[in-house]
Amino acid sequence: MGKNKLARFTQLATYSHVLQPHKDEVLGGFPMAGKWKSDFFKNNQPLVVELGCGRGEYAVALGQRDPQKNYLGIDIKGARIWEGATHSLQEDMAHVGFLRTRIEWVEHCFAPGEIDEIWITFPDPQIKFQRAKHRMIGPAFLEKYERLLSPGGAIHLKSDSEFLHGYLHGIIEWKGLEVLETYHDIYGQIVDKPDHVVFACKTFYEKMWLKQGKTITYLKFRFLKGGGVK
Ligand SMILES: C[S@@+](CC[C@H](N)C(=O)[O-])C[C@H]1O[C@@H](n2cnc3c(N)ncnc32)[C@H](O)[C@@H]1O
Repeated sequence: MGKNKLARFTQLATYSHVLQPHKDEVLGGFPMAGKWKSDFFKNNQPLVVELGCGRGEYAVALGQRDPQKNYLGIDIKGARIWEGATHSLQEDMAHVGFLRTRIEWVEHCFAPGEIDEIWITFPDPQIKFQRAKHRMIGPAFLEKYERLLSPGGAIHLKSDSEFLHGYLHGIIEWKGLEVLETYHDIYGQIVDKPDHVVFACKTFYEKMWLKQGKTITYLKFRFLKGGGVK
């Protein structure tokens, strides 16, 4: 491991707004599940979770935009989380935190209905058939998210992948979920709303894809009341 990475890991371990539970702690009855607002953020604001947050840029940007909500970025890579965690600490953002864990274990990290909104930005589309089960918006993951979201809670997917955008539209139609907003090219289509939340920030990956000339898609949807993923 490089010196820089090691220094980041050491510093990350000292941050009280970053939890890095061991697998056994998560799977064996995670104490923070059901208590994020009261015990971690120590307020009763809505909870927004960013899955696969990388450097936490979106969680921090959303936190700057609307401090009346709590934001929790989740990623497995500590050196990446360090960036957002350090930034939010420097900016004194007590309503932004991070959890280093695997998204596959997300249902152990929260109580049912505890999350009010989910953001997923630029996930790996996992295009190959054998990798389909790893798609962060595949049916098995959606079932977990549905249990964790409060009634009417939305999921936002911002992506460089037309494939993933179309794939999610297919699932939404199949399962009878509700599309709230959809754009296959945010910069080409949302020209009259510069304050739209999709423009809250350009993450590391978004900048990279834009440089390569890719268009950026956005899809916001929710599980219908009493319905959802079967
Ligand atoms: C392509 S990057 C996008 C990062 C960030 N959202 C952005 O837009 O810059 C995908 C991120 O998801 C994380 N990730 C992928 N699979 C994961 C999993 N199963 N559990 C936790 N994190 C995961 C990776 O570590 C990586 O930081």
